[in-house]
Amino acid sequence: MNGRPTKLAIIGAGAVGTAIAYSALIRGVARSIALMDVNAAKVAAEVLDLSHGLEFVPRADVVGSDDMSVCAGADVVVMTAGAKQKPGQSRLELAEATIGLTRSILPRVLEVAPDAIYLMVTNPVDVVTRAALEVSGLPPNRVFGSGTVLDSSRLRFLIADHCGVAVQSVHAYIVGEHGDTEIALWSSATIGGVPLTQWTPLPGRPPMDFAAREAIRDEVVHAAYKIIEGKGATNYAIGLAATRIVEAVLGDEHRVMPVSTVADGFPGLEDVCLSLPTVIDRGGARNRLEVPLSDEEREGLLASAETLRRMQARFGL
Ligand code: 2OP
Repeated sequence: MNGRPTKLAIIGAGAVGTAIAYSALIRGVARSIALMDVNAAKVAAEVLDLSHGLEFVPRADVVGSDDMSVCAGADVVVMTAGAKQKPGQSRLELAEATIGLTRSILPRVLEVAPDAIYLMVTNPVDVVTRAALEVSGLPPNRVFGSGTVLDSSRLRFLIADHCGVAVQSVHAYIVGEHGDTEIALWSSATIGGVPLTQWTPLPGRPPMDFAAREAIRDEVVHAAYKIIEGKGATNYAIGLAATRIVEAVLGDEHRVMPVSTVADGFPGLEDVCLSLPTVIDRGGARNRLEVPLSDEEREGLLASAETLRRMQARFGL
């Protein structure tokens, strides 16, 4: 920590922005939390509601405004403002609205928080991150997206549930696009150090065979659609995932998380923002791991990059 109170600014006081604020308060991630939203009445009400719980969480202040100056001096800025995904709509279909918004909001945030690390959460997060990099002119370690941190957590939850172990004992990653072309890295997945490809089922548990892996991958890819169908948005798990990323930054944790960054240096992935396991510390997303990939995983990742490249090109990125 840098000796002065840490500040987290969240742009957008919708279902996701407020879930991040709520979980950040409970986890004591920052001493000061600022919410910014164009809807002054909504942001004031959210701040009031969160403030009424301050007695029950680690010491913190919550402020909010429709004025960007509320974000001044933030250490981390999380961007959640954007169009809402309708039932059946893919994340990529939101691109036009959210890229426009990123282009207009980001320069204004940068004026008041020039030294912050920027975490993009708005969908389609990979393309939005690419746009944010271009608009901000900041180095890639300082502007990155929540990427497949949430998808990987969904994957771990489903593997844990299938195998009868704690989710914290599962290490497995979803990489590529945060969206329909994402890839599950089965070849490097482990439970308690045991490769999943060699997993012997615990008594009474089903095998982790090809069919089980396919079903789990399918469920991860369709998870958000299912939740949006039922409640209109996903917010709690992305709130926790984004908070955990912010915590890794502010705590200088060197924690490995699959965030979305520009993939320069990886043949076939150049110029595209997508997720691969990356070390997160106080400098942001600095080092990507060189993950061993099976042929099938490599092909999937290249195809995912190609989808994102085509989408970026549509927006001149
Ligand atoms: C999610 O995966 C919709 O991107 C959001 O929950």
